Amino acid sequence: MNSYDIVFLKKFASLIAGFVVLTVVLIVLALIVHGGAKSGDPTPEQVAATEARIAPVGAVYAGESGQMARAAAAAAAAAAAQQQVAYGGSLDGGLIYERLCRTCHDTGAGGAPKMEAAAWTARLAQGRDTLVRHAIEGYEGPDGIMPARGGNPSLTDEQVAASVDWMIDAVN
Ligand code: HEC
Repeated sequence: MNSYDIVFLKKFASLIAGFVVLTVVLIVLALIVHGGAKSGDPTPEQVAATEARIAPVGAVYAGESGQMARAAAAAAAAAAAQQQVAYGGSLDGGLIYERLCRTCHDTGAGGAPKMEAAAWTARLAQGRDTLVRHAIEGYEGPDGIMPARGGNPSLTDEQVAASVDWMIDAVN
């Protein structure tokens, strides 16, 4: 072997040694980085999504996420339903009549008794409670069909009764 070969071998050997060291450093670096975020571990968002999917349908008490959440939802639904009560829940019979009942009872549309005493004498004889019940439940008579709650299901019993009372007063 001449001296050139020896020089070459020395340089080449140290180059190989350098690559070996670099490889080890890269492996260690990779392990450190990988240790911070194990790819197999789901993220907190994924955990939450999974728990939501596998939650029992009729979950009983489950702390804040269960019973209290449902109680809050029920309260929100009740509040929303409150807002759906017709005419803001007004018990002003005249107001409800103006907004709804008059569309038929002013004109006699569909056979509705108009707001004239003559049209009501026989009906009043049935008594106030029957008239209120007919207005709440709806009623098909000889003249036509009185739709339940005048066709607005969000009217409460009290609101219908108030408007019937107003009508009874108005035709008397
Ligand atoms: C879509 C038309 C229509 C609307 C709206 C309507 N009514 Fe009537 N109503 C009728 C008709 C038709 C009759 C008559 C039915 C019959 O006796 O043949 C009637 C009858 C009645 C009677 C008499 C029932 C009886 O036993 O004789 C009352 C009370 C009454 N309506 C109250 C109301 C009130 C209160 C409202 C509003 C909340 C209202 N109506 C809205 C059509 C309507």
